Amino acid sequence: MQQMWTELDQYIESHLIPEDPILTQTLENTAAHGFPDHLAVAANQGMLLQMLIQMNNCKRVLELGTFAAYSTVWLARALPEDGYILTMEGRDTHAAMGQENIDRANLKPTVELKCGRAADILRALPEDTEAFDFIFIDADKQSYPEYLELCLARSHSGTVIFLDNVIRAGALLDENNKKPSIEGLRDMFSLMQNHPKILSCTALQTVGSKGHDGFALAIVK
Ligand code: DHB
Ligand code: MG
Repeated sequence: MQQMWTELDQYIESHLIPEDPILTQTLENTAAHGFPDHLAVAANQGMLLQMLIQMNNCKRVLELGTFAAYSTVWLARALPEDGYILTMEGRDTHAAMGQENIDRANLKPTVELKCGRAADILRALPEDTEAFDFIFIDADKQSYPEYLELCLARSHSGTVIFLDNVIRAGALLDENNKKPSIEGLRDMFSLMQNHPKILSCTALQTVGSKGHDGFALAIVK
């Protein structure tokens, strides 16, 4: 099935996703440095992130898990020139790769990359930091419940929160799988269920070039 999923993603991409030399350059530069490509979002998912931001006229975006900043470039593509992205990355090798790609991309909106554990960075943000309009949670899956709470605290009514990789090829349902990352995702689902700060939420499974996974989406009350 994987080959067909990949070919269908290529079909979708060739029809619906316009060529963007900066996005291509970002992927090529990342590969040239020997980084894997499976951690990056697929182009058709990058477009979905862009559309959610455009739909809501977002200006301030928060990203947890920069990796090589491919998704960051997609987020930046969606923003007006006075837009702002705060992106954070826990591994310094990844942060260096991400910063290089951000610098090369020459993006119009302001993009600030902070290296460190996202939970620590979020807790250390000044109290009066303006709330974010769109939040992309894509860092270590083990910490998703903690990240969700911290992100809700940095949201306003109507903020959209997108959580990547919440299905993991069905590992979620495998009772023998007690990996911290999978347990973290299960705890995230429990936390989202009837959360007093969430207006509505769902999760969708996806298949494609990145395999079988999925994302959760929440709107803040
Ligand atoms: C993994 C993490 C991601 O954020 C992703 O999009 C794909 C895979 C991982 O840790 O394996
Ligand atoms: Mg991801």
